[in-house]
Order: sequence, then structure tokens, then C-alpha cells
Amino acid sequence: MFTPIRTRRLTLRPVTMDDLDDVYAYQRRPDVCRWMLGNEPRSREQSRESVAAMTNEDALRAEGDVLTLAAEANGRVTGTVELVWRSQADRTAEIGYVFNPEFSGRGLATEAVAALLGWGFEEFGLHRVYGRCHAGNEASARLMTRLGMRCEARHVESYLFRGEWADQLVFAMLAREWLSRPGQTRGRGTVAPARKSVRGV
Ligand SMILES: CC(C)(COP(=O)(O)OP(=O)(O)OC[C@H]1O[C@@H](n2cnc3c(N)ncnc32)[C@H](O)[C@@H]1OP(=O)(O)O)[C@@H](O)C(=O)NCCC(=O)NCCS
Repeated sequence: MFTPIRTRRLTLRPVTMDDLDDVYAYQRRPDVCRWMLGNEPRSREQSRESVAAMTNEDALRAEGDVLTLAAEANGRVTGTVELVWRSQADRTAEIGYVFNPEFSGRGLATEAVAALLGWGFEEFGLHRVYGRCHAGNEASARLMTRLGMRCEARHVESYLFRGEWADQLVFAMLAREWLSRPGQTRGRGTVAPARKSVRGV
């Protein structure tokens, strides 16, 4: 069982089928899918399948697993954050996030991603977390920059995005960079002692 993470304004906890209405509210929006590969606005039935899949993403048990957490504020799911365990040997994961524009511009996504980074580095024992986005996805690039992630690469025309070659930005952060951030503001809002990895990675 994943222990929910509490931040100043959010509770991050595994997704349940009761979240369908809140998730569908943004998965149906074209602006939310604008920069996401393979994502088109979803029907309610497609959202149901998506939420059902997310309910199984409740722990990182083995390399390749995805941990998806609902970011809940005042009883509403404002968005989801995810961590994909890319390499056990390299203690590396990829971060992802999708938020309802209804809640944008308040720093909620930043708060949620910071909390998940904190969990990944301080509790799960990751060495490196990276995130990728379409070069045109300025809100996503700003979010990663705001969190102190380094823009390590711009892969020029590296993938086909809706029939056109697109540039992809790669951002990353190391555990030691996370722990030495100026004005340390760890995700949970508290400074808990760093634990050894629960997975021994
Ligand atoms: C990427 C995404 C999550 C960013 O959303 P967002 O609303 O910009 O992010 P936040 O909730 O953290 O809000 C940050 C904004 O609020 C402002 N803000 C206000 N109060 C703040 C606070 N307490 N802390 C941080 N930022 C705050 C920031 O200045 C920032 O505005 P700016 O980008 O204009 O400078 C959102 O655009 C999204 O879900 N997009 C669709 C899905 C997607 O593209 N996902 C990424 C795929 S790579």
C-alpha cells in the first residue's frame, strides 16, 4: 500500500475508479492533449479505461513499473503525477504530469511534482530523474525549470509529432542536486530524514 503524500495544499494518493469524473473533466479537453504524443481528447469510456489502468499503477515493484498518483485538493482531483521506473541498475526514473487547466497558474502542479521528486529521491532511493517534453510545451518546460531541473538536451527533430518532425527537450536532476537545492523545500513541506531505498536500488 502506498502511503499518501501530503503537501501544503495537496494529497497525492493512488488513483481509484471514483476519480473518473475528475479525470475525464480534463482528459476530454483538447488543450490538455495539445503537446502529448498519442493523446487525443478522450471520450468518457476511454477515460474509464485510462483510469482503470492508472488504478494498477500504485507502486514501483519492478523496473518498467509506473507509479501514478492523483493530486487531490479539497476533494477534487486536480491532475495526476507519475514516475516511470526506467532503470533499476541506474536508479533512474522519468517524471510525468497532467493537470486540469481549471487549476492552473497556482503552482499546484509544481507542488505535486516536487513532492513526487522528493519521494523518489529521499524514500525510493533514485539517483536521477528526468523529464521530457515537446519543445513547444512551454508550461511544462517552465515547470521543470522552476523545480531546478537542468535542461540537458534539445533533441532536434527527434520524433514525429502529429505528422511533423518535432524537437524534444530533456530535463534532469540528480539526488545530490535535489538534496542541496537552495532554500531546501522538500515536497512534503517537512524535512524528513533520508531513508535507504525501499527497493534496495
Ligand atoms: C504542464 C502543466 C502541468 C503546467 O501547469 P501550470 O499551471 O503551468 O503549473 P503549476 O500548477 O505549477 O502553476 C505554475 C504557474 O503558476 C504560477 N504560480 C502561482 N503561484 C505559484 C506557487 N505558489 N508556486 C509555483 N508557481 C506558482 C507560476 O508562476 C506559474 O506560472 P507561469 O508558468 O506563467 O510562470 C500543465 O500545463 C498541463 O497539465 N499541461 C497539459 C499536459 C502536459 O502537457 N503535460 C506535460 C507533458 S510533457
